[in-house]
Amino acid sequence: MAYNTLEVQTDERVRVIRLSRPEALNAFNRELMDELTDALKAADEDNQISAIVLTGSEKAFAAGADIKEMADKSFVEAYTEDFITANWEQASRTRKPLIAAVAGYALGGGCELAMMCDFIIAADNAKFGQPEITIGAIPGAGGTQRMAKFIGKAKAMDMCLTGRMMGAEEAERCGLVARIVPKAELMDTAMEAAKKIAGYSRPIAMMVKESVNRAFEVPLSEGVRFERRVFHSVFATQDQKEGMKAFVEKRQPNFKDA
Ligand code: HXC
Repeated sequence: MAYNTLEVQTDERVRVIRLSRPEALNAFNRELMDELTDALKAADEDNQISAIVLTGSEKAFAAGADIKEMADKSFVEAYTEDFITANWEQASRTRKPLIAAVAGYALGGGCELAMMCDFIIAADNAKFGQPEITIGAIPGAGGTQRMAKFIGKAKAMDMCLTGRMMGAEEAERCGLVARIVPKAELMDTAMEAAKKIAGYSRPIAMMVKESVNRAFEVPLSEGVRFERRVFHSVFATQDQKEGMKAFVEKRQPNFKDA
């Protein structure tokens, strides 16, 4: 499908979704959000795809929700249409591994979207922030919650209350991003990681993702119990048999996603 605000490509078993609304630094207007939801769903449902990379431009991953579009919204409109979450949770609902490759600004909803991904690979020019307070708003797509869980109360309060930006090094130091790379190497690094993941068994990779995500939802004892049950279930897959047999036979496994 052709989109106006996204560029979508497939490379081997990896779907690359590039936000492309350069005139507004990839700010999320309704069209972009509808298209992104559609593209993420399509990738998740496509049997040829095993991992997804979400990226923006060198200047901006995304500068947040479109301020011009939402400036005059009334409370009743926001409430009744469940703005913005009704159309926002797709990234966090995606079951296949989803990597955010972030260069430039990831602000407001842009930072929230990156945090909905499974991990963030940042270019050295990346800047993260929740500047909503500077425009009389608060984060509305999970920013206060995910940031507090991922980087702790002190940093989350600092970021959300001051509205300041955090550079890539600070973001890596506090655990918001998994890796920093030079800007020119961002996509190669993200693709290398995505292809590595896509080379494993798809159901097993999905189980890993589901299990890690469980850590953010339930107490440790329940998370460990969940993990153990999922671990037991890997023995029902052909890919576990193949993976362990290949190890014993000193050869590469040939996973069948089964
Ligand atoms: C609409 C935006 C935009 C946004 C940038 N633009 N951010 N339009 N919504 N969030 C537009 C600008 O108006 C301008 O268009 C063009 O993009 C380039 O931006 P500049 O400001 O000229 O660029 P620069 O000086 O380089 O500054 C970059 C910037 C700044 C620091 C990122 O644009 C900025 O502060 N943007 C707003 C960031 C923000 O507050 N985000 C949070 C939004 S609220 P024109 O046509 O004027 O030249 C939010 C809530 C989320 O995300 C709730 C749930 C999703």
